[in-house]
Amino acid sequence: MTVIGKNHQSLWIATTPGTDYPVLTEDIDVDVAIVGGGLVGLSSALILAESGASVAVLESAQVGTGVSGYTTAKITTQHRRIFHHLIQHFGHEKAQLYALANQQAITYIEGVSRQHSIDCDFEYKPAFVFAQTDEHLKLVEEEIKAAQAAGLEMSFVKDTRLPLEVKGAAILPSQAQFHPRKYLLGIANAVVLLGGSIYENTRVVEIECEKSGPCSLKTKDGKKVKARDIIVATNFPIHNRDGFYFTRLRSSNSYAVGIRIKDKFPEGIFINSEDNGHSFRQHPIEGGEIVIVLDGSHPVGQGGDILARYQELADFARKVFDVESVEYWWTAQDTISLDMVPYIGRYTEGHRHLFLATGFRKWGMTHSIVAAQLLADLVTGRQNSWEELYTPHRLKPLATGGEFLSQGVKTVESYVEKVLPTPKIDVEKIQKGESAMGELGGKRAAVYRDKSDKLYEMSRECMHLGCPVNWNNAEKSWDCPCHGSRYNFDGKVIHSPTVKDLKPLSEE
Ligand code: FES
Repeated sequence: MTVIGKNHQSLWIATTPGTDYPVLTEDIDVDVAIVGGGLVGLSSALILAESGASVAVLESAQVGTGVSGYTTAKITTQHRRIFHHLIQHFGHEKAQLYALANQQAITYIEGVSRQHSIDCDFEYKPAFVFAQTDEHLKLVEEEIKAAQAAGLEMSFVKDTRLPLEVKGAAILPSQAQFHPRKYLLGIANAVVLLGGSIYENTRVVEIECEKSGPCSLKTKDGKKVKARDIIVATNFPIHNRDGFYFTRLRSSNSYAVGIRIKDKFPEGIFINSEDNGHSFRQHPIEGGEIVIVLDGSHPVGQGGDILARYQELADFARKVFDVESVEYWWTAQDTISLDMVPYIGRYTEGHRHLFLATGFRKWGMTHSIVAAQLLADLVTGRQNSWEELYTPHRLKPLATGGEFLSQGVKTVESYVEKVLPTPKIDVEKIQKGESAMGELGGKRAAVYRDKSDKLYEMSRECMHLGCPVNWNNAEKSWDCPCHGSRYNFDGKVIHSPTVKDLKPLSEE
């Protein structure tokens, strides 16, 4: 297999210890059950535990090893270009609320890390969004005006000091960066010290919530949690029956490399103004720094040759920087809402006790905090001025991006593919470490032969809503092009919305 760098792992997970919170082995009863142990889940747990609620966080793997462990971890209100869009489609007042909500999240993270003595490498940095074409220069100038109208101190600079030719950039001072998993492990610890419970390797497979409560959920092992309120913090919501979020969200993958370079990285966090442009930041490590370069994105399950994408990214990094080594390489996964603003609030207008946060559009560090604060207020019945901006029940059809249409077309194509003839799989021809998709024994199959020659023959039908999954040759995963569910090579689920493993072909 092509090797892109030394560690096929995220910098954040590779440089923090594992965790061993217990598996849930009995039925429990709490005030608030939180599904997902990432930044939204643990931050919500912390705020609610501080307010005296009994909380339980249920994480399907280990805390901070999902989406929050694979981010670039920029803590900023500068979400590439968003303020022009917000003013056009949501109005000045909401744009100002968006700016305020995200700005205070930066100081909140700093405050929590101080209060709980969490050494998470938090540092203030200016954030830049730069333009390399005249067209984007105009867009950046437009964004600066909009951000200023929203109350931000964004301004124009000619240069970024990145070794890239630019036409100009927007700069927003006093933004930040940190080590997200160090922060997450710290707040997980704080949750437990406040009396909260965290369960790992505890996959939630079913949620029941009457509109006016009570709620309960069931784990894969059949354990039951009764709760007054449930927060679903699983990136792509796992509970599909209410709200139909799979029709209003799309999932995307982007790729990161963590490199050592010979020169010093300039002060700041950076992103290209182009929709799929590169993003850059550095992170201090013992004996130097790692520079993180992230490429554009594509819908999950539609990336084609993913190894080639990583290779392209590493080649690009070598063109920009004097690269000493590629130390880390990893995939980020994000969920994007119809109108580019996250859905944070009640699952449906009628549900009083079932909540979710999703659709952060790759800007999950500040928005996770905004979500945790807003959801904690909704749970405890406090007024929150952000509620109307983030409510999942808003209707903004004119604000819908064109990518949604192409994602919709792809979903339809994927369903059509289910009824088209498919090539027969000859399992004898599958080499160790390789896969095949096609027909096997009259069924649509996804097959993988591991390094020890063990053959995994599975149904190709995604367990969410049945789209055929595609092979990801870099992550060795089966990825669904419809809504972004992902499964390991052996069919075990690794990313929602599905909660079930691919079916062995023998059970089809
Ligand atoms: Fe919805 Fe696969 S994620 S069908």
